[in-house]
Amino acid sequence: MDEVIEAWTTRYGATRDQLLPMLHAIQEEAGYVDDALVPVIAKALNISRADVHGVITFYHDFRRTPPGKHMVKICRAESCQSRGGAKIEAAAAQRLGVAMGETRADGQISLEAVYCLGLCATGPNAMVDGRPISRVDEKVLDRIAQEVAA
Ligand code: FES
Repeated sequence: MDEVIEAWTTRYGATRDQLLPMLHAIQEEAGYVDDALVPVIAKALNISRADVHGVITFYHDFRRTPPGKHMVKICRAESCQSRGGAKIEAAAAQRLGVAMGETRADGQISLEAVYCLGLCATGPNAMVDGRPISRVDEKVLDRIAQEVAA
């Protein structure tokens, strides 16, 4: 990943304002931002490790561990919650065998919260490997569980 950091600073400059876009590029490439990269990024941008760590931990979209092979996200925003989102979230965790915010031990599935997919009228909603799914119910969860088992 050091080469991504070096290529980034060569192309865009080694300035503090490059931290967020660089972190996005790293996550796009590797799927997460490894803690071991914090000092490398800090040195490349001439900022403190605390600055880098603070940004990574502040924004929940940055992952610090490798994601599962499949990513299942359940909407936790208000509209989906008012349509039974909490029940769906619990059922998803049970069916997929992984707690919310975790990656299953076999690395097959990560289950995460998302806060509004812009499909509020058709909730509760989920997203599976980047594909939005509306009107999630027990049957739909069964289908999702089958899909991500493969
Ligand atoms: S609240 Fe769930 S999609 Fe908007």
